[in-house]
Amino acid sequence: MVLTQEMMDAIEKNNIVWLATASTDDVPNVVPIGLARPLDSGTVLLVANFMNKTFKNLKSNPKASIAVGNVSECPYQFKGDVEIYESGKYFDDAVQWAKSVMAQLNPKAAVLLKVNEIYSVQPGPDAGKKIE
Ligand SMILES: Cc1cc2nc3c(=O)[nH]c(=O)nc-3n(C[C@H](O)[C@H](O)[C@H](O)COP(=O)(O)O)c2cc1C
Repeated sequence: MVLTQEMMDAIEKNNIVWLATASTDDVPNVVPIGLARPLDSGTVLLVANFMNKTFKNLKSNPKASIAVGNVSECPYQFKGDVEIYESGKYFDDAVQWAKSVMAQLNPKAAVLLKVNEIYSVQPGPDAGKKIE
């Protein structure tokens, strides 16, 4: 699954992305996440600092969907499988990034969303259509 440069730029520069998860008993949960950026054209890094229900959900049901804060400039819904790293290079890089943004942050994990579906949310005839 390939995010376009425009999609990656929008994820990088938006102040937040909305991150949706679900529990194993089907309770949806959506939160704003500031520390989100693409690592490559198929992967979005989300830094778990304060994730609570979100983190529990991802551990038991490692699937998620995101949309950027200013969805008018990037009218897409990204879905995929999540990998959680609580140590190692992804974690170390996430800690370094978080601390460069706010020194007192103590991330508990790097959450990697491996995007496998992209849908349009643009109002009109293409709304909800699968792009890739
Ligand atoms: C503007 C904003 C940015 C946030 N950025 C992050 C973030 O980068 N990482 C994080 O773990 N939580 C972040 N949070 C906190 C989460 O939105 C949320 O409060 C946390 O996941 C607990 O909710 P939950 O129990 O539904 O997971 C942010 C909150 C706001 C309001």
